Amino acid sequence: MADRPQLHIDGQILDLPLIVGSENERGLDISSLRTKTGTVTLDPGFMNTASTSSAITFLDGEKGILRYRGIPIEELAEKSTFVETSYLLIYGKLPSKPELENFSRLLTRHSLIHEDMKRFFDGYPGTAHPMAILSSMVVSLSSFYPEAVDIKNHEQIDITIGRLLAKVRTIAAFSYKKSIGQPFVYPKNSLSYCANFLNMMFSVPAEDYPVDEETVKALNLLLILHADHEQNCSTSTVRLVGSAQTNLFASISAGVCALWGPLHGGANQEVMEMLDEIHASGQPVDSFIARAKDKRSDFRLMGFGHRVYKNYDPRAKIIKAACDSILKKFGVKDPKLEIALRLEEVALSDDYFIERKLYPNVDFYSGIIYRALGIPTNMFTVMFALGRLPGWIAHWKEQIESPLARIGRPRQIYTGPTLNHYLPMDQRTG
Ligand code: SDX
Repeated sequence: MADRPQLHIDGQILDLPLIVGSENERGLDISSLRTKTGTVTLDPGFMNTASTSSAITFLDGEKGILRYRGIPIEELAEKSTFVETSYLLIYGKLPSKPELENFSRLLTRHSLIHEDMKRFFDGYPGTAHPMAILSSMVVSLSSFYPEAVDIKNHEQIDITIGRLLAKVRTIAAFSYKKSIGQPFVYPKNSLSYCANFLNMMFSVPAEDYPVDEETVKALNLLLILHADHEQNCSTSTVRLVGSAQTNLFASISAGVCALWGPLHGGANQEVMEMLDEIHASGQPVDSFIARAKDKRSDFRLMGFGHRVYKNYDPRAKIIKAACDSILKKFGVKDPKLEIALRLEEVALSDDYFIERKLYPNVDFYSGIIYRALGIPTNMFTVMFALGRLPGWIAHWKEQIESPLARIGRPRQIYTGPTLNHYLPMDQRTG
């Protein structure tokens, strides 16, 4: 029998049961550590810490594997749609024909937002970042659907999930229209999920927007590739907020805020701004690579590196291949793609990046396609959020349905002043 993991501490021996997952990932169960030894573990950034077990998404960072409910991302990217993949993530299986029809109908019939919510947009300046609008509008949905606040009311969960998936497109498109001073375009029930979003984004009352099937296909691909990624920063945020039995709208709103960070989903906007800066500078990419390696510089090669992938991000591989075909289809020649390809070529042959196993991640090429679809740079992270929504929902749902669910409350190692006392003003210095 393999040795049972044990911890020897202060003269006592503590067995640490080994938990083994379905893909043979191993974890030490330390749930009795503090009770039995008075000691906690310390792991900044949770580099070595699993916060939960989960049956939704498996990724192997060394081999560059990503599967949703066991299905490789490559197969879903080629054969599925975003709505079908959303069902797979949330309900744990590919939908039957009637299940997919019912789910699609649910998303179609709940895409309007309350007319009072439209007035919220009047208060934002035209320069408001659409991620700020998205997070506040999503949490505000709980004011219009108060039955969603009681998460123990299981009957409302499916309709709440449908409302959220259906309405975020409308909120996102309205935030874009607000930023360019164009009238809001209402959803059309005759259009598919992605076509409806594109129509709300790009059509105007003065003329129809011809929904192009290639554009719809490209958007489905990008949303599928962003749909889940196990315990990343924003999904962990959704789980932590949801662990307090917080309703879905508020939990997802917190996830939107976490995703906005430039080290996380905000990187896709940063990548495009970096490529624009390099293009405008006329400098060779080598000078930017040198800056990325220089510890004195705060410049980072955005879209490169990953906490888990120490190999090429499988999503970046698919998006990079799609860039070529999509730009050719749209007859777009984007010099930023050439710059990105050159950056990758130089970085992947440079010891600094090789030693640190820094490869392009999902954000490195995605902006090239978003731009070719006509989506402005400051909407890129909103697009990431639209894609990630079913993953966030799936994790929130998995957690509230788990009998093991408890409120998340990490411990700490205190390093502040020991016992101290209040000082009257006349005794204070400084
Ligand atoms: C996403 O977790 C997920 O799954 C996230 C995500 C998802 O789908 O949810 O995949 C989406 O967020 C992708 C990542 C997007 N972020 C970026 O592209 C920002 C640029 N990359 C990073 O800043 C960084 O690589 C992170 C944040 C992604 C990962 O950070 P880590 O794991 O904390 O690694 P680190 O910052 O400690 O870096 C390790 C070393 C350091 O050098 P040394 O101190 O060892 O000398 O690598 C260097 C870093 O300086 N490094 C980089 C770099 N990324 C890491 N150097 C230059 N350019 C970079 N991009």
